[in-house]
Order: sequence, then C-alpha cells, then structure tokens
Amino acid sequence: MGRTMTVQGGRSLYGTVEVPAAKNSVLPLLAASLLCGGPVRLEQVPRLSDVEDCLGILRAVGCGAAWEGEDVVVGGPPSCCRMPLAETARMRASVLFAAPLLARLGRVETALPGGCRIGARPVDWHLAALEQMGAQITQAGDRLVLTAPWGLRGTEICLPGPSVGATETVLLAGCTARGETILHGAAREPEICDLAQFLNRCGGKVQGAGTDEIHIQGVGALHGATYRPMPDRICASTLACAVAAARGWITIAGCSPSLYGPVLDVLEQAGCTVSRTAGSATVGRMGSLQGAGRLVTGGYPALATDAAPLVAAALLFGEGTTVLEDRVFEARFGCAEGFAAMGAQVKVEGRTLRIRGGRPLRGAAVTACDLRGGAALVVAALGAQGKTRIAGCEYIARGYASLGEMLTGLGARIE
Ligand code: EPZ
Repeated sequence: MGRTMTVQGGRSLYGTVEVPAAKNSVLPLLAASLLCGGPVRLEQVPRLSDVEDCLGILRAVGCGAAWEGEDVVVGGPPSCCRMPLAETARMRASVLFAAPLLARLGRVETALPGGCRIGARPVDWHLAALEQMGAQITQAGDRLVLTAPWGLRGTEICLPGPSVGATETVLLAGCTARGETILHGAAREPEICDLAQFLNRCGGKVQGAGTDEIHIQGVGALHGATYRPMPDRICASTLACAVAAARGWITIAGCSPSLYGPVLDVLEQAGCTVSRTAGSATVGRMGSLQGAGRLVTGGYPALATDAAPLVAAALLFGEGTTVLEDRVFEARFGCAEGFAAMGAQVKVEGRTLRIRGGRPLRGAAVTACDLRGGAALVVAALGAQGKTRIAGCEYIARGYASLGEMLTGLGARIE
C-alpha cells in the first residue's frame, strides 16, 4: 500500500508496445476455473494485484492456483465454501466466485465485494439471478450465505440493465445448471465473449454471447483447458491516450483496434493521426489537439466507461471544450481533483466532467483514488511540464502490471 509514482512530463513517446491480457477477462476466467474438473492453464497473465487476490480466493477454497512462468495454473476441485474476507472485500470481481462455488459445493459463504470507488456498485442483479436459479440467500450486514442444496436450475432471466458482472454470473451459474438458462438484456462486452469461448472450450454450451440474448444449455461437468485470455482494450486505450497527451508516435500491438474503436475515433477527431491494422493501431500526435465536444459512455460497443477518465486526460490538452458524461457509474471522475491541481480547468457536475482544455498543465502532487482515474493522472502528467508525484498507485497496480515500464519503454521518464 501507499505506492507512489513520479512522472517527469513533457517527453514525447515513440516505439511499439505490446498489450497484455485483459484484467476484466482474466478475473472471470479464474472464477470459471472453479467449474472445471481438470486443470486450467491461462496463458500470459499479467501480474496484477487483483489477479493475486483471485489466486488467494482459489487457494482459500481449496484449489491449487500457482504461477508457472507467465501462466497461471488452477487445479483441484474446491473443498471449502468459505471465501476469504480480505480478498473478497478488496475486489469487486470476488462476486464472480459465488456462482461457481455454489454450483460445485451447494453453499458459499461470502461478503459484499469491495472495489474501486466510482459510485454505488450493488450486486442485487447477481443475487436475484441466482435466486431465480434456485439459490437461497441470507444476508446479515455485509455477510452473505448462498445455498443451493438441490443444485442450480436453468430458467429465463431478464436483467434490469446490461451489467457485465451479472451477465458473467449467469453464464457461470448456467453452465452446469439443470436444463437451459436464457438470459435477456445481457451485456455485450468482448470480455463476456471471451468467458463464453473459454466455457465452451471446457465443454460448456453457451450461445449468443456478444448479443443481448444468451442461451446456456447446462452440462453435467466441465473439463479443463489451456486458454489465452483476450488483450486488454482499456490498457490499449490508456496507451493511445498517453501518446495523445505526451505527443509522439506509437504502435499499440497485440490488440484489435476494433476493441477500442470509439477511443481511437475520439482521438482522431481531436487531431491525432490513427492508422489501424487487424491487430494493431498506430497513434501519433505532432500538432495541437482540439476539444471533442460532447461525449457519452455506454455499454459495448459505445465508448467504454473505463476509458472515460483516460480520454478526459488526453483532452485536457485539446483547445476548446469537452463535455464527457459517464452513464454507467455515478462517480467516474474522481481524478478531476488531480487534473485541477495540475492547472486544468475542469468541473464535475453529477456524472459529467466539463473540460475547458488547451491550458498548459504543470506537475503537481496528486492522489489516485481509483484504478482508471489513477491511470488518467499518469496520462495527464505525461503531457504536463515538470514533475508530477502520484500517490495511491496501489489502485493502478490492480489493473496495470507494468504501466510505468511500458511508458518508460516508449521514452517516458517515470520512477
Ligand atoms: C465491470 O464491472 C468491470 N469489472 C469494470 O471494470 C467496468 O467498469 C464495468 O464492468 C462496466 O464496463 C470487471 O469486469 C471485473 P456492471 P461490473 O455490473 O461488472 C449497475 C475497471 O476499471 N449494477 O456492468 O461491476 C452498476 O451499479 C473496472 O477495470 C447494479 O445496479 O459493472 C453500474 O451502474 C471498474 N446491480 C452498472 O450496473 C448489479 O447487481 C454497470 O455495472 C450489478 C450492476
């Protein structure tokens, strides 16, 4: 805890950088490995604190979970239904372990999950879906006990909103439930397709992932598999925004530009040069940037909420106005305080961040208060003059294994 990063701004970025595997894919895949009868090998997993917490949960419930070089190997059936409180409380994704444990053991004792401070993040839709599938749930304070003594059963579920996590919970619960589960109103994020592909690779029968209606035919059991998780589109977005802020010319390799198309489109409209191949994007900024007018986030394929603070950081350097509304979370722009400390003209009104961009920024002492907001402070600091000291970088370590090293490799000066 208490990690800091010092960024010497004003240096342009040049070179090629490889995008690592997506945190938001790896975490559900680790939860899914609980369903598998044989060992699961996830290839080239980034060493994130959220990944370490997931491995902690897997070990606490009796599975083997270990690094083998850059891969993670999970094996052995779970034997304990009690999830460890520390890891569970630290991370939102801990809620994803409930459904597979329930499916395997018929009972799970857990707690309400923690996670980034970006507004209220209830888990009521996860719990309601599991109840519909036959789980009985008791809650005392932040403690939860879920039981399904007769197993889970497939049914028709309609999500009140396109929640990524609740969609994943239904996938995880439905795979080995009795009969068919039909999910209406599913989220369509690519990480959900990655989870469905993994489950199918393990013998599951999931159809329709990537659309708002998913059909899951329950199967008796899943087997193990070796799987390479998809690339991190938010990390790719971070790098694209970094070069927009710092100036320079970089190639972001190993991630299809279509996965973060809206971010590249905004940067292009703001004045960056963007060229795309099937598996990479080259983003350059030589001249001035313009504000982007009005932008709104939403579920995939719209501009991702996770990218909103990053895009905002880049557009601090755009002449004119940007108004960025986050429709997914209540408090996405905690980073605005840090932007202001660097001299930016920004104002948060409810879910909206207003930027009057183009003023030169100067280094300052700032504090990360969530993962993407923390990364956004790094992006802003790259384009500011002088040194920025960013406290609270443990948030950044949740989702970026080596942001400092990646940017240093492109010519940034970061300690
Ligand atoms: C996932 O969170 C991601 N996390 C988040 O990544 C991402 O911001 C978010 O999806 C949206 O894309 C992981 O994949 C581990 P949601 P999740 O359920 O699943 C409401 C990052 O920086 N809701 O789609 O928790 C909720 O409050 C992050 O990597 C309920 O009301 O997000 C929110 O307003 C942080 N009840 C909206 O739905 C529920 O039971 C969308 O949340 C569930 C959700």
